[in-house]
Amino acid sequence: MKGRRPRPLDDGDSGRSRVSLIINTAKLIKWQTSCVSIIENCTASAIKDAATSLRSGNLVAFPTETVYGLGADAQNKDAVSKIYQVKGRPINHPLIVHISSIEHLDKWARDIPDYAKALARTFWPGPMTLILPRTKLAKDFITGEQDNVGIRVPSHTVALALLKEFESQGGLGVAAPSANRFGALSPTTAKDVQEELSEYLEPTDLILDGGSSLVGVESTIINCTQNLPTILRPGAITPTMVDDLLGISVVSGLQNLSNQIKAPGLLESHYAPSAKVFLTGSPKPGDGFIALAAIKTPKATIRLASPVSNNEYAQILYQALRLADSKKIDRVFVIPPEGLDIAIAINDRLRRCSHKG
Ligand code: TXA
Ligand code: MG
Repeated sequence: MKGRRPRPLDDGDSGRSRVSLIINTAKLIKWQTSCVSIIENCTASAIKDAATSLRSGNLVAFPTETVYGLGADAQNKDAVSKIYQVKGRPINHPLIVHISSIEHLDKWARDIPDYAKALARTFWPGPMTLILPRTKLAKDFITGEQDNVGIRVPSHTVALALLKEFESQGGLGVAAPSANRFGALSPTTAKDVQEELSEYLEPTDLILDGGSSLVGVESTIINCTQNLPTILRPGAITPTMVDDLLGISVVSGLQNLSNQIKAPGLLESHYAPSAKVFLTGSPKPGDGFIALAAIKTPKATIRLASPVSNNEYAQILYQALRLADSKKIDRVFVIPPEGLDIAIAINDRLRRCSHKG
């Protein structure tokens, strides 16, 4: 972790040459980079060890159906503070608490409206986070000093197994933001997590490999602290799905609630690769290009992805943007998908990561 790296020795005091210091520092970084373990085979015993490690205050990155999360024991202030250091995330931004079942919801949340119970019963386990009034269990270091808490029951089998095992060892919830540096793209594979964070993780931290995330974009966040629900972040659980369940017309709360609820994913620039992303204009030769498979590749551009459906588009979007960075492509042109399904979430993320200049 950056903050925990020994400070470089002063040349004058040490008597060593600057060159040897640089080499030693490079070795140290490499040693740290290679030391965080990726657990490829998530057997019951590996999950048990990971849960024990979480209970001991270490970080465990784990797969969810949306994106990979960077987990810590949600009751352990020191462990949670490591999440902020590793991510480079401002300290007052709240974290989602992950639990294994709706049965544990009222440990963390109180005054749960009936509509929120209906949402939880219908869409959990799954890609939806509910913001609810908090109980005393949800401390300020989780909620960013707000009186509400974000809760989610993920559906990925590895995530659920980890949460169940963690609870059987006495834990009550795992705080987990997406396992990326603040402002960067969320990871959808264990390798992405390793590339993104291993420099900042400790050898005692772990990365569980559960394959590629099926949904590919972060959970739908629904504010349930008022009379009616509002969608704070679009995701795979769409406004239409919420409307159909509750018989109301759910609104997007992005504008009117952003002052009251601190949600960095709602910042205008977020989820961004290093490449500049353009949603309009004409690509030049050598630019990257992402669009549905039915759309032809413009001449001399580099096709980064050709999803055949909106769901597949969401699944591969962050991979395609990461690919642009690994190929050192400076500009990527993206034709966003249309529709009232997960296309809403894709358009939201693309708008936030696109070039504004
Ligand atoms: O799909 C997901 O939600 C992933 C997986 C790992 O579960 N998690 C995730 O967490 O995307 P994160 O921290 O990267 O994004 C969650 C967003 C942040 O913008 C955070 O500020 C907001 O949810 N959030 C969390 N708790 C909140 C709260 N109590 N009130 C308002 N916003 C909250
Ligand atoms: Mg995030």
